[in-house]
Amino acid sequence: MSLEKSAPASRGAASRGPASRRPASRGPASRRAAAPPQEAPPPPSETKEETPKITASELNVFYGETQALSDVSLSIGAKRVTALIGPSGCGKSTFLRCLNRMNDIIADCRIDGRVEIDGEDIYAEHVDSVLLRKRVGMVFQKPNPFPKSIYDNVAYGPRIHNMAAHPSHLEEIVEKSLRRAGLWGEVRDRLSDSGTDLSGGQQQRLCIARAIALNPEVILMDEPCSALDPIATARIEELLDELRDRYTIVIVTHSMQQAARVSQRTGFFHLGALVEEGATDAIFTNPGDRRTQDYITGRFG
Ligand SMILES: Nc1ncnc2c1ncn2[C@@H]1O[C@H](COP(=O)(O)OP(=O)(O)OP(=O)(O)O)[C@@H](O)[C@H]1O
Ligand SMILES: [Mg+2]
Repeated sequence: MSLEKSAPASRGAASRGPASRRPASRGPASRRAAAPPQEAPPPPSETKEETPKITASELNVFYGETQALSDVSLSIGAKRVTALIGPSGCGKSTFLRCLNRMNDIIADCRIDGRVEIDGEDIYAEHVDSVLLRKRVGMVFQKPNPFPKSIYDNVAYGPRIHNMAAHPSHLEEIVEKSLRRAGLWGEVRDRLSDSGTDLSGGQQQRLCIARAIALNPEVILMDEPCSALDPIATARIEELLDELRDRYTIVIVTHSMQQAARVSQRTGFFHLGALVEEGATDAIFTNPGDRRTQDYITGRFG
């Protein structure tokens, strides 16, 4: 999917789209094709050589004079959950917002560095940030359904982006998105009720359905469970495990247990820097940096 603004034809959309930049021979699909017939393909989290879905390089972010991120470089693999942890104020949300240009809407925010998705520079001048955010969805800490019906909450984005040719197609998108968000069974008979009448956990799954309805490739989640009770939290965590078959997920969490349960990779931020990133098991059992060790053992934060 191209991120180009509807721009002059001379820009050459075909040659600049992400698909054309991705090396054709290195994706998981081609590895599968090359494997002997009986050999099951390794799950994405175990593949050694992988083209990253997202690559952030030397990101420096400033709010006015205050530097919030310093030289952050991080590659994020496709179809896995990457958890970002670290003490309050260390820049996790700032980093997450760089991945779909949500920082653009903060007046005094300045970003240096580069973020690529499938090899395409998302800060390039020709990139349409509305199309980018369709492709890179976001779920926030506090569930924020629109004051509209459950149906219209999910149908809102597909309508704006003209994704459904017929009303029946829109119904299909709504049902599929609610099913994937694990909410269909609870709301199928009350689709015209207001989204704000749902419980907190249901509202958060509605927000996930709303993101899914746009057919995103990446879903960013900023502490999506911090306003939820343990049962609703467990439901979202189960859901994350299902969603990673289809989507690249980046989740910020203050819960070390949650990071350990849901993610395959974990990055630890401290004072605006990415201290280390690695396989979640390794980060929690044998971190490479003393600061990570101190944080995960509760010595600070
Ligand atoms: N809109 C803003 N304007 C000015 N400064 C900001 C803004 N947003 C964040 N900051 C500052 O940038 C730094 C990083 O903030 P950020 O919200 O990214 O941290 P965080 O790791 O997500 O923290 P928390 O865990 O508390 O959510 C902090 O010093 C914060 O005060
Ligand atoms: Mg935050």
